Amino acid sequence: AGLDAAGGQPAAVPAAPPKAAEPLTVIFASESGNCEALAGSVAKLARKQGFKPKVVDFADLDLATLPKAGKLIAIAATWGEGEPPARAVRAYGELMGEGAPRLDGVEFAVLALGDTSYAEFCAIGKALDARFEALGAKRAAERADLDLDFDKPAAAWIKGALQALAPAQAAADNVVAVDFARTPGEASGEDEEPSREPVVAEVVEHVNLNSSRSDKETIHIALAFEDGAPAYEPGDSLELYPENDPQLVEEILAATGLSGDAGLRDALLAERDITTLSPATIERFAKATGSADAQAFVEGGEVRAWIEGRHLIDLLEKFPAQLTAEHLGVITRPLPPRAYSIASSRKEVGDEVHLAIAAVRYETHGRARTGVASTHVADRIRDGAKLRVRLKPNRHFRLPQDPATDIIMVGPGTGIAPFRAFVQERRATEAPGREVGRSWLFFGDRHFTHDFLYQLEWQEALEEGALTRIDVAFSRDQPEKIYVQDRITQNAGELVAWLDGGAHLYVCGDAKHMAKDVRAAVVRAFETAKGLSAAEAEAHVAGLERTKRYQQDVY
Ligand code: 2AM
Repeated sequence: AGLDAAGGQPAAVPAAPPKAAEPLTVIFASESGNCEALAGSVAKLARKQGFKPKVVDFADLDLATLPKAGKLIAIAATWGEGEPPARAVRAYGELMGEGAPRLDGVEFAVLALGDTSYAEFCAIGKALDARFEALGAKRAAERADLDLDFDKPAAAWIKGALQALAPAQAAADNVVAVDFARTPGEASGEDEEPSREPVVAEVVEHVNLNSSRSDKETIHIALAFEDGAPAYEPGDSLELYPENDPQLVEEILAATGLSGDAGLRDALLAERDITTLSPATIERFAKATGSADAQAFVEGGEVRAWIEGRHLIDLLEKFPAQLTAEHLGVITRPLPPRAYSIASSRKEVGDEVHLAIAAVRYETHGRARTGVASTHVADRIRDGAKLRVRLKPNRHFRLPQDPATDIIMVGPGTGIAPFRAFVQERRATEAPGREVGRSWLFFGDRHFTHDFLYQLEWQEALEEGALTRIDVAFSRDQPEKIYVQDRITQNAGELVAWLDGGAHLYVCGDAKHMAKDVRAAVVRAFETAKGLSAAEAEAHVAGLERTKRYQQDVY
């Protein structure tokens, strides 16, 4: 299907606006907010083109409404090892299940977001795309599978998809192939909020929160801004634009036989992702170098297993080739920023942003590996250093509107960060005649003596009453592991009493295990404390999620 909807001159030749407003349903499955923001962009542009868009979070999606959607755009993120975002799990499961309604007469287009550094790239978007078709809907535009640098291709895809869904186009009975790799002439920019532009921050504090004898290193940094801090709320994140390890840059140059002029060194340091390795990276490498060995390798069956735990440098050493700077530009993707939950409240720290960042260091295949942004912060910046950052709002992780509402916070490791912001915010909110509800913190880490992040601040908050209660789980201070969810289980009755009294529950930290284990412990708490069946307890927790009284910020 050769029609190129996005690449032409979309500004000069707009799709003919439909006469009566054409209903368009835009559904999104978002974890960190990217798909949600894109859904907003779709709606904005769609409205200008004469559609009547309705944006629906998967969390609130009623499948019974879909057969009447008419025109449907789905924007879905893939999370972790090929999973839907947490808030989308229910509706996604229903859609994939046997009870899903037929969608004959619906026209759809799917935009998939993912991260090529994970195995199941864009799995959820791919599955939705196939599922809509299987249910009888008609694909109006080809799906796009986008990596972390999705801004421009997403803008191009949106234009093309709307054009394909417009009634004037529908008559052509043609699936529109959207060239999403191409940058539209003017698309981006109009939907960009000014606060989303990167700004330069100065590091004014840099301390290791762990003791020097800990096997962990969690760096607390305070950032100051020349023109005032971004207007953030407790719960928001800050994206940080890191630099690569200069030593890795030298290794890459050595492996490719490049001399590395200053311009190339700078680009490899600050602009290109020189660690991530995916099948797509190997394909691009094989194509750029013309290496038959690499081509055979990528077509063979072992490539996925081989990639596991390996980085770009391993590929360059496996297939030695003389590369050019252009080759490297084609093979690598842009260096994406990393988001960290903000650990401060502007009400307390004014024009600063505080972050708590755990240095990621490990070894695979006999080689030391480091997390790009975290070790940039831990090893290569100090007081006075400059960092490029960008605010990433998260309206799904918010303190209750009424400060008198109780809160329960579960944040092991760096999951503690947003709760420092919450407690600061509530302390600053409190005033004579303005009552603030109770707050209960669950914190966990390896060792009490080395890893109790912000310990003195919690003690102070307890004394002042800004924190009502803290329960800690130090996993490696005794022979058996004790985790935050064990503390939840031990205090099931009281936790349920708080929740029954209207408390909001927040979980921040590891998505893969912790957040799921904590959720299971909360479900069990309802079973034991109230004698509910497993199904009833599950439905109760699902209800808390639906009413935004159980929120999570996980990574
Ligand atoms: P561990 O490293 O001893 O296994 C912060 O990283 C804390 O979270 C550590 O104490 C870590 O314990 C713990 N942790 C690891 N897996 C967890 C899980 N599934 N649920 C809760 N906490 C977990």
